[in-house]
Amino acid sequence: MDSPFGLLAELTYRCPLACSYCSNPLNMGDYQDELATDEWLRVLAEASDLGVLQCHLSGGEPLLRRDLVEIVAGAHGLGLYTNLVTSALGLSRPRAERLRAAGLDHVQISIQAHEAALSDRIAGIPSFQRKIEAMGLVKELGWPLTMNVVLHRHNIDRVADVLELAEKVGADRVELANTQYYGWAWRNRDALLPTRAQLKAAEVVVRATRERLRERMDVVYVIPDYYSRYPKPCMGGWASRQLTVTPNGDVLPCPAAQSLPLPRASVREDPLERIWAESPVMTAFRGTDWMPEPCRSCPRRELDYGGCRCQAFLLTGDAARTDPVCHLSPDHDLVARAVEAANADSRPDDLPLIPRPHRARRPTHLPGG
Ligand code: SF4
Ligand code: FES
Repeated sequence: MDSPFGLLAELTYRCPLACSYCSNPLNMGDYQDELATDEWLRVLAEASDLGVLQCHLSGGEPLLRRDLVEIVAGAHGLGLYTNLVTSALGLSRPRAERLRAAGLDHVQISIQAHEAALSDRIAGIPSFQRKIEAMGLVKELGWPLTMNVVLHRHNIDRVADVLELAEKVGADRVELANTQYYGWAWRNRDALLPTRAQLKAAEVVVRATRERLRERMDVVYVIPDYYSRYPKPCMGGWASRQLTVTPNGDVLPCPAAQSLPLPRASVREDPLERIWAESPVMTAFRGTDWMPEPCRSCPRRELDYGGCRCQAFLLTGDAARTDPVCHLSPDHDLVARAVEAANADSRPDDLPLIPRPHRARRPTHLPGG
Protein backbone atom coordinates (compact mmCIF):
# COMPACT_ATOMS: atom_id res chain seq x y z
CA MET A 1 0.00 0.00 0.00
CA ASP A 2 1.36 3.44 -1.01
CA SER A 3 0.92 6.69 0.87
CA PRO A 4 -1.60 9.11 -0.60
CA PHE A 5 -0.01 11.99 -2.47
CA GLY A 6 -3.00 14.29 -2.97
CA LEU A 7 -5.95 15.27 -0.79
CA LEU A 8 -9.10 16.66 -2.36
CA ALA A 9 -10.70 18.65 0.45
CA GLU A 10 -14.30 19.28 -0.58
CA LEU A 11 -15.00 22.08 1.88
CA THR A 12 -18.67 22.54 0.96
CA TYR A 13 -21.07 21.44 -1.75
CA ARG A 14 -22.83 24.82 -1.60
CA CYS A 15 -22.30 26.64 -4.90
CA PRO A 16 -23.59 29.79 -6.55
CA LEU A 17 -23.51 28.15 -9.99
CA ALA A 18 -25.94 25.58 -11.37
CA CYS A 19 -23.97 23.81 -14.09
CA SER A 20 -25.78 21.02 -15.88
CA TYR A 21 -22.50 19.02 -16.07
CA CYS A 22 -21.90 19.10 -12.30
CA SER A 23 -20.46 15.81 -11.02
CA ASN A 24 -21.13 16.47 -7.33
CA PRO A 25 -23.59 14.18 -5.51
CA LEU A 26 -27.32 14.50 -6.13
CA ASN A 27 -28.20 14.13 -2.45
CA MET A 28 -26.52 17.39 -1.36
CA GLY A 29 -28.85 17.75 1.61
CA ASP A 30 -26.93 14.87 3.26
CA TYR A 31 -23.76 17.01 3.38
CA GLN A 32 -25.03 20.08 5.20
CA ASP A 33 -23.39 19.12 8.48
CA GLU A 34 -20.05 20.53 7.31
CA LEU A 35 -16.79 19.98 9.18
CA ALA A 36 -15.92 22.94 11.39
CA THR A 37 -12.61 24.81 11.06
CA ASP A 38 -10.81 22.86 13.80
CA GLU A 39 -11.97 19.57 12.25
CA TRP A 40 -10.52 20.56 8.87
CA LEU A 41 -7.26 21.62 10.52
CA ARG A 42 -7.05 18.20 12.19
CA VAL A 43 -7.78 16.44 8.87
CA LEU A 44 -4.99 18.41 7.17
CA ALA A 45 -2.51 17.50 9.93
CA GLU A 46 -3.47 13.82 9.71
CA ALA A 47 -3.20 13.93 5.92
CA SER A 48 0.26 15.46 6.15
CA ASP A 49 1.35 12.76 8.63
CA LEU A 50 0.09 10.19 6.16
CA GLY A 51 2.34 11.56 3.40
CA VAL A 52 0.01 13.92 1.53
CA LEU A 53 1.93 16.70 -0.25
CA GLN A 54 -0.76 18.45 -2.30
CA CYS A 55 -4.07 19.77 -1.04
CA HIS A 56 -6.82 20.77 -3.49
CA LEU A 57 -9.40 22.97 -1.77
CA SER A 58 -12.58 22.42 -3.69
CA GLY A 59 -16.36 22.11 -3.48
CA GLY A 60 -19.02 23.26 -4.49
CA GLU A 61 -17.51 26.67 -4.03
CA PRO A 62 -14.78 26.76 -1.35
CA LEU A 63 -14.94 30.58 -1.21
CA LEU A 64 -18.33 30.17 0.49
CA ARG A 65 -16.43 29.00 3.58
CA ARG A 66 -15.68 32.08 5.64
CA ASP A 67 -12.79 30.19 7.31
CA LEU A 68 -11.02 29.49 4.00
CA VAL A 69 -8.07 31.74 4.84
CA GLU A 70 -7.59 29.90 8.13
CA ILE A 71 -7.73 26.53 6.39
CA VAL A 72 -5.20 27.66 3.76
CA ALA A 73 -2.89 28.99 6.48
CA GLY A 74 -3.16 25.65 8.31
CA ALA A 75 -2.28 23.68 5.18
CA HIS A 76 0.56 26.03 4.31
CA GLY A 77 1.94 25.75 7.86
CA LEU A 78 2.11 21.97 7.39
CA GLY A 79 4.15 22.43 4.22
CA LEU A 80 1.34 21.30 1.87
CA TYR A 81 1.12 22.70 -1.66
CA THR A 82 -2.31 24.34 -1.79
CA ASN A 83 -4.51 24.69 -4.87
CA LEU A 84 -7.82 26.58 -4.76
CA VAL A 85 -10.34 25.08 -7.21
CA THR A 86 -12.98 27.77 -7.63
CA SER A 87 -15.61 29.43 -9.79
CA ALA A 88 -14.00 32.68 -8.50
CA LEU A 89 -17.37 34.09 -7.48
CA GLY A 90 -16.55 35.71 -4.16
CA LEU A 91 -12.86 36.29 -4.91
CA SER A 92 -12.74 39.97 -4.00
CA ARG A 93 -9.40 41.81 -3.86
CA PRO A 94 -9.24 41.87 -0.02
CA ARG A 95 -10.08 38.16 0.14
CA ALA A 96 -7.49 37.33 -2.52
CA GLU A 97 -4.84 39.34 -0.68
CA ARG A 98 -5.58 37.51 2.57
CA LEU A 99 -5.34 34.16 0.78
CA ARG A 100 -2.01 35.23 -0.74
CA ALA A 101 -0.69 36.20 2.68
CA ALA A 102 -1.90 32.86 4.10
CA GLY A 103 0.31 31.05 1.59
CA LEU A 104 -2.09 29.83 -1.11
CA ASP A 105 0.12 28.45 -3.91
CA HIS A 106 -2.10 28.07 -6.96
CA VAL A 107 -5.55 29.04 -8.26
CA GLN A 108 -7.70 27.12 -10.73
CA ILE A 109 -10.70 29.00 -12.09
CA SER A 110 -13.46 27.32 -14.06
CA ILE A 111 -15.18 29.03 -16.93
CA GLN A 112 -18.01 27.58 -18.97
CA ALA A 113 -17.30 29.04 -22.43
CA HIS A 114 -15.32 31.71 -24.29
CA GLU A 115 -17.99 34.42 -24.09
CA ALA A 116 -20.57 35.72 -21.64
CA ALA A 117 -23.88 34.62 -23.16
CA LEU A 118 -22.97 30.93 -23.57
CA SER A 119 -20.88 30.76 -20.38
CA ASP A 120 -23.65 32.28 -18.28
CA ARG A 121 -26.25 30.02 -19.84
CA ILE A 122 -24.23 26.90 -18.99
CA ALA A 123 -23.39 28.17 -15.48
CA GLY A 124 -27.01 29.01 -14.80
CA ILE A 125 -26.23 32.56 -13.60
CA PRO A 126 -24.40 35.65 -14.93
CA SER A 127 -20.80 34.98 -13.91
CA PHE A 128 -18.50 35.26 -16.96
CA GLN A 129 -17.42 38.84 -16.41
CA ARG A 130 -16.60 38.29 -12.73
CA LYS A 131 -14.53 35.24 -13.65
CA ILE A 132 -12.51 37.22 -16.18
CA GLU A 133 -11.87 39.95 -13.59
CA ALA A 134 -10.84 37.35 -11.01
CA MET A 135 -8.36 35.81 -13.46
CA GLY A 136 -6.78 39.25 -13.89
CA LEU A 137 -6.54 39.59 -10.12
CA VAL A 138 -4.94 36.17 -9.75
CA LYS A 139 -2.25 37.08 -12.29
CA GLU A 140 -1.73 40.51 -10.73
CA LEU A 141 -1.10 38.93 -7.33
CA GLY A 142 1.46 36.62 -8.88
CA TRP A 143 -0.26 33.25 -8.60
CA PRO A 144 0.08 30.59 -11.26
CA LEU A 145 -3.34 30.34 -12.94
CA THR A 146 -5.08 27.31 -14.38
CA MET A 147 -8.18 27.97 -16.45
CA ASN A 148 -10.48 24.96 -16.43
CA VAL A 149 -13.20 24.41 -19.01
CA VAL A 150 -15.50 21.40 -18.99
CA LEU A 151 -16.19 20.48 -22.60
CA HIS A 152 -19.41 19.00 -23.96
CA ARG A 153 -21.67 19.11 -26.99
CA HIS A 154 -22.67 22.74 -26.33
CA ASN A 155 -19.23 24.35 -26.20
CA ILE A 156 -16.69 21.99 -27.77
CA ASP A 157 -17.08 23.61 -31.21
CA ARG A 158 -15.66 26.82 -29.69
CA VAL A 159 -12.48 25.27 -28.31
CA ALA A 160 -10.32 27.56 -30.47
CA ASP A 161 -11.99 30.59 -28.89
CA VAL A 162 -11.57 29.08 -25.42
CA LEU A 163 -7.84 28.66 -26.04
CA GLU A 164 -7.62 32.22 -27.34
CA LEU A 165 -9.29 33.44 -24.15
CA ALA A 166 -6.86 31.43 -22.01
CA GLU A 167 -3.98 33.08 -23.86
CA LYS A 168 -5.54 36.52 -23.42
CA VAL A 169 -5.99 36.18 -19.64
CA GLY A 170 -2.42 34.89 -19.32
CA ALA A 171 -3.28 31.42 -18.01
CA ASP A 172 -0.21 29.32 -17.28
CA ARG A 173 -2.20 26.19 -17.85
CA VAL A 174 -5.52 25.43 -19.49
CA GLU A 175 -7.37 22.26 -18.67
CA LEU A 176 -9.90 21.19 -21.28
CA ALA A 177 -11.78 18.42 -19.56
CA ASN A 178 -14.43 16.52 -21.44
CA THR A 179 -17.41 15.91 -19.15
CA GLN A 180 -17.27 12.92 -16.82
CA TYR A 181 -20.72 11.46 -16.43
CA TYR A 182 -21.32 11.30 -12.68
CA GLY A 183 -23.77 13.12 -10.42
CA TRP A 184 -25.88 15.69 -12.25
CA ALA A 185 -23.91 15.19 -15.47
CA TRP A 186 -25.11 11.59 -15.55
CA ARG A 187 -28.70 12.86 -15.72
CA ASN A 188 -27.75 15.08 -18.64
CA ARG A 189 -25.50 12.60 -20.40
CA ASP A 190 -27.47 12.25 -23.60
CA ALA A 191 -27.78 16.02 -23.99
CA LEU A 192 -24.06 16.59 -23.23
CA LEU A 193 -22.32 13.83 -25.22
CA PRO A 194 -20.54 15.36 -28.22
CA THR A 195 -20.40 13.76 -31.64
CA ARG A 196 -17.38 12.00 -33.08
CA ALA A 197 -17.00 14.80 -35.65
CA GLN A 198 -17.00 17.47 -32.91
CA LEU A 199 -14.25 15.63 -31.03
CA LYS A 200 -12.11 15.16 -34.12
CA ALA A 201 -12.29 18.84 -34.95
CA ALA A 202 -11.48 19.86 -31.36
CA GLU A 203 -8.46 17.57 -31.20
CA VAL A 204 -6.96 19.16 -34.32
CA VAL A 205 -7.29 22.63 -32.75
CA VAL A 206 -5.87 21.49 -29.40
CA ARG A 207 -2.87 19.81 -31.01
CA ALA A 208 -2.01 22.86 -33.10
CA THR A 209 -2.40 25.28 -30.16
CA ARG A 210 -0.34 23.07 -27.86
CA GLU A 211 2.46 23.15 -30.40
CA ARG A 212 2.20 26.91 -30.95
CA LEU A 213 2.16 27.78 -27.24
CA ARG A 214 4.66 25.12 -26.14
CA GLU A 215 6.84 27.61 -24.28
CA ARG A 216 4.08 29.70 -22.72
CA MET A 217 1.05 27.64 -21.72
CA ASP A 218 0.46 24.06 -20.70
CA VAL A 219 -2.55 22.71 -22.63
CA VAL A 220 -4.10 19.67 -20.94
CA TYR A 221 -6.82 17.85 -22.86
CA VAL A 222 -8.78 15.19 -20.97
CA ILE A 223 -10.27 12.90 -23.61
CA PRO A 224 -13.87 11.73 -23.31
CA ASP A 225 -13.59 8.13 -22.26
CA TYR A 226 -16.84 7.09 -23.97
CA TYR A 227 -14.88 7.43 -27.22
CA SER A 228 -11.78 5.58 -26.04
CA ARG A 229 -10.91 1.93 -26.64
CA TYR A 230 -9.58 1.61 -23.11
CA PRO A 231 -10.78 3.25 -19.90
CA LYS A 232 -8.94 5.94 -17.96
CA PRO A 233 -6.76 4.77 -15.06
CA CYS A 234 -9.20 6.44 -12.71
CA MET A 235 -7.52 8.20 -9.76
CA GLY A 236 -4.31 6.33 -10.68
CA GLY A 237 -5.91 3.24 -9.11
CA TRP A 238 -8.46 2.93 -6.31
CA ALA A 239 -7.09 4.26 -3.00
CA SER A 240 -3.60 4.29 -4.44
CA ARG A 241 -2.37 7.92 -4.46
CA GLN A 242 -5.42 10.14 -3.86
CA LEU A 243 -8.11 10.57 -1.27
CA THR A 244 -11.16 12.78 -0.94
CA VAL A 245 -12.74 14.17 2.20
CA THR A 246 -16.33 15.35 1.66
CA PRO A 247 -17.88 18.39 3.40
CA ASN A 248 -19.29 16.26 6.23
CA GLY A 249 -16.03 14.34 6.83
CA ASP A 250 -16.66 11.16 4.83
CA VAL A 251 -13.45 9.76 3.35
CA LEU A 252 -13.50 8.36 -0.17
CA PRO A 253 -10.98 7.15 -2.76
CA CYS A 254 -12.54 9.49 -5.35
CA PRO A 255 -15.15 12.25 -5.35
CA ALA A 256 -17.87 10.11 -6.96
CA ALA A 257 -17.56 7.04 -4.72
CA GLN A 258 -20.31 8.18 -2.35
CA SER A 259 -22.73 6.63 -4.86
CA LEU A 260 -21.31 3.13 -4.32
CA PRO A 261 -22.88 0.72 -1.82
CA LEU A 262 -19.83 0.62 0.49
CA PRO A 263 -19.69 1.21 4.26
CA ARG A 264 -19.03 4.83 5.22
CA ALA A 265 -15.78 5.97 6.82
CA SER A 266 -15.61 9.36 8.52
CA VAL A 267 -12.88 11.53 9.99
CA ARG A 268 -15.36 12.23 12.76
CA GLU A 269 -15.13 8.61 13.86
CA ASP A 270 -11.65 7.38 12.93
CA PRO A 271 -8.17 8.73 12.28
CA LEU A 272 -7.34 9.20 8.62
CA GLU A 273 -4.43 6.76 8.83
CA ARG A 274 -6.68 3.90 9.95
CA ILE A 275 -9.29 4.76 7.33
CA TRP A 276 -6.65 4.77 4.57
CA ALA A 277 -5.15 1.47 5.65
CA GLU A 278 -8.14 -0.59 6.76
CA SER A 279 -11.57 0.78 5.97
CA PRO A 280 -13.65 -1.30 3.52
CA VAL A 281 -14.27 1.76 1.34
CA MET A 282 -10.51 2.01 0.73
CA THR A 283 -9.63 -1.66 0.51
CA ALA A 284 -12.61 -2.80 -1.64
CA PHE A 285 -10.88 -2.25 -5.00
CA ARG A 286 -7.27 -1.57 -4.04
CA GLY A 287 -4.72 -3.48 -6.12
CA THR A 288 -5.77 -6.18 -8.60
CA ASP A 289 -7.10 -9.08 -6.49
CA TRP A 290 -10.71 -7.91 -6.79
CA MET A 291 -10.67 -7.95 -10.59
CA PRO A 292 -13.02 -10.07 -12.68
CA GLU A 293 -12.22 -11.34 -16.14
CA PRO A 294 -11.31 -9.96 -18.65
CA CYS A 295 -9.23 -7.60 -16.45
CA ARG A 296 -7.77 -10.35 -14.24
CA SER A 297 -5.75 -11.85 -17.09
CA CYS A 298 -5.30 -8.65 -19.12
CA PRO A 299 -1.78 -7.22 -19.67
CA ARG A 300 -3.18 -3.70 -19.12
CA ARG A 301 -4.50 -4.36 -15.61
CA GLU A 302 -1.64 -2.45 -13.95
CA LEU A 303 -2.00 0.39 -16.49
CA ASP A 304 -5.67 1.27 -16.18
CA TYR A 305 -6.68 -0.73 -13.07
CA GLY A 306 -9.82 -1.94 -14.83
CA GLY A 307 -11.02 1.64 -15.33
CA CYS A 308 -13.43 3.54 -13.14
CA ARG A 309 -15.38 1.78 -10.38
CA CYS A 310 -17.96 4.56 -10.19
CA GLN A 311 -18.62 4.38 -13.91
CA ALA A 312 -18.90 0.58 -13.77
CA PHE A 313 -21.46 0.95 -10.97
CA LEU A 314 -23.47 3.66 -12.72
CA LEU A 315 -23.65 1.72 -15.97
CA THR A 316 -24.05 -1.86 -14.72
CA GLY A 317 -25.14 -1.60 -11.07
CA ASP A 318 -22.01 -3.55 -10.03
CA ALA A 319 -18.85 -1.62 -9.09
CA ALA A 320 -16.73 -4.78 -9.40
CA ARG A 321 -17.25 -5.20 -13.14
CA THR A 322 -14.85 -4.10 -15.85
CA ASP A 323 -15.47 -0.46 -16.80
CA PRO A 324 -17.88 -0.72 -19.77
CA VAL A 325 -15.83 1.93 -21.59
CA CYS A 326 -13.27 -0.81 -22.32
CA HIS A 327 -13.95 -2.46 -25.66
CA LEU A 328 -13.11 -5.81 -24.03
CA SER A 329 -15.80 -5.44 -21.36
CA PRO A 330 -18.83 -7.74 -21.70
CA ASP A 331 -20.92 -4.62 -20.96
CA HIS A 332 -19.30 -2.39 -23.60
CA ASP A 333 -22.55 -2.29 -25.52
CA LEU A 334 -23.95 0.09 -22.85
CA VAL A 335 -21.39 2.70 -23.87
CA ALA A 336 -21.48 1.89 -27.57
CA ARG A 337 -25.25 2.46 -27.65
CA ALA A 338 -24.93 5.90 -25.98
CA VAL A 339 -22.24 6.88 -28.49
CA GLU A 340 -24.32 5.62 -31.39
CA ALA A 341 -27.31 7.67 -30.18
CA ALA A 342 -25.15 10.80 -29.85
CA ASN A 343 -24.09 10.42 -33.49
CA ALA A 344 -27.42 9.39 -34.99
CA ASP A 345 -28.90 11.63 -37.69
CA SER A 346 -32.28 11.16 -36.03
CA ARG A 347 -31.09 12.69 -32.72
CA PRO A 348 -33.06 15.88 -31.97
CA ASP A 349 -30.85 18.99 -31.92
CA ASP A 350 -32.47 20.43 -28.87
CA LEU A 351 -32.37 17.70 -26.20
CA PRO A 352 -33.08 19.75 -23.07
CA LEU A 353 -30.39 20.23 -20.40
CA ILE A 354 -31.71 19.84 -16.87
CA PRO A 355 -30.14 22.68 -14.85
CA ARG A 356 -28.75 21.80 -11.43
CA PRO A 357 -30.72 23.54 -8.65
CA HIS A 358 -28.78 26.31 -6.88
CA ARG A 359 -27.28 25.36 -3.51
CA ALA A 360 -25.62 28.39 -1.97
CA ARG A 361 -27.50 28.42 1.31
CA ARG A 362 -25.38 28.26 4.42
CA PRO A 363 -25.94 25.49 7.00
CA THR A 364 -27.40 27.11 10.08
CA HIS A 365 -24.88 25.68 12.59
CA LEU A 366 -21.82 27.45 11.15
CA PRO A 367 -20.83 30.96 12.15
CA GLY A 368 -20.56 33.59 9.40
CA GLY A 369 -21.34 32.94 5.75
FE1 SF4 B 1 -8.17 -2.45 -18.69
FE2 SF4 B 1 -9.68 -4.50 -17.88
FE3 SF4 B 1 -10.00 -3.48 -20.33
FE4 SF4 B 1 -7.79 -4.87 -19.72
S1 SF4 B 1 -9.91 -5.67 -19.81
S2 SF4 B 1 -7.88 -2.97 -20.87
S3 SF4 B 1 -7.47 -4.23 -17.56
S4 SF4 B 1 -10.39 -2.45 -18.38
FE1 FES C 1 -14.70 6.89 -8.64
FE2 FES C 1 -13.51 6.66 -11.03
S1 FES C 1 -14.69 8.31 -10.26
S2 FES C 1 -13.31 5.35 -9.32
